[in-house]
Amino acid sequence: MSKWKVLVTRHDTPPAGLNLLQSRCDVTILPGEAPTRADLLQAIPGYDAIFLSSHSIVDAELLDIAGYKLKVISTMSAGYEHLDLAEIKRRGIKVGHTPVVLSAAVAEIAILLLLNAARRAHEGRLLLEAGQCQSKPMSLLGQDIRGSTVGIVGLGSIGAEIVKRLVSFQVENFVYTGHARKKIGDDLGAKFVTLDELLKMSDFIIVATPLTNETHGLFDDAAFDKMKKTAVFVNIGRGPVVQTDALLRALKQEKIFAAGLDVVDPEPLPKNHELLKLPNFEILPHLGSATVKTRNDMATVAAQNIINGLDGKSLVYPL
Ligand code: DGY
Repeated sequence: MSKWKVLVTRHDTPPAGLNLLQSRCDVTILPGEAPTRADLLQAIPGYDAIFLSSHSIVDAELLDIAGYKLKVISTMSAGYEHLDLAEIKRRGIKVGHTPVVLSAAVAEIAILLLLNAARRAHEGRLLLEAGQCQSKPMSLLGQDIRGSTVGIVGLGSIGAEIVKRLVSFQVENFVYTGHARKKIGDDLGAKFVTLDELLKMSDFIIVATPLTNETHGLFDDAAFDKMKKTAVFVNIGRGPVVQTDALLRALKQEKIFAAGLDVVDPEPLPKNHELLKLPNFEILPHLGSATVKTRNDMATVAAQNIINGLDGKSLVYPL
């Protein structure tokens, strides 16, 4: 029997996933350092499955060009805002993603940003580089995590991992918001509150929600106006959940103390963006899941999603 034909969208896909796919399928890897949509559309006809190593947009146009053979789409990401799920499912195509295996790594990045922003690490470094750093009793004072209230917007797998790690920092209260109260919240001793309540009571606000129609632009001027002046804001979910101009105003006008972002809108942030000039702004270039083990685990799950789908079994993480 001939092997299933699978297209992988990037040459630098982690080897664990590629090896697994190659053990069962006839794999074609899209060549080039940064394949464009045009490259993808040109290559895509005739495959049984597509392995998305990057956030390529999958919409009706791409599916039309891919053709009737396409049975499985697997994205090597937890986020799936680049996939038109309704259109994919309408065509009877199976679709999967890779949550959970990245939760610990993303939680670590959230803590890194929270600590850096709370303790003014970037500002301290800037002063050091400018030769202006003097040890004074009241200089570069930050915010304590010990005894604080931490608010998580979106208590999914990543949010829960963040809470578990912050317990050891002696946080006093954990609160969270989302669609409904969750058992994991009860298990972690976190209280379910409304978004408004969370914004008003939290010393640290961590956004760990996916990008949906509901969360798009959720953090606007009104949201930042409700936060404490001492609040530290962290986003490791998706950039467009936060209105970038509103965040800029919040930091410049000192409506909040500091922010730390792993995701931003647009991404990457242009190198001359005003946010990058602010001392109370920490940013990383979307590194949440970027560890050797995590990326290999994600690639393995994405490959297994394809193999399961082609074998007629349930995907590991279906959408
Ligand atoms: C995800 O998996 O969605 C992360 O943001 C990395 O792309």
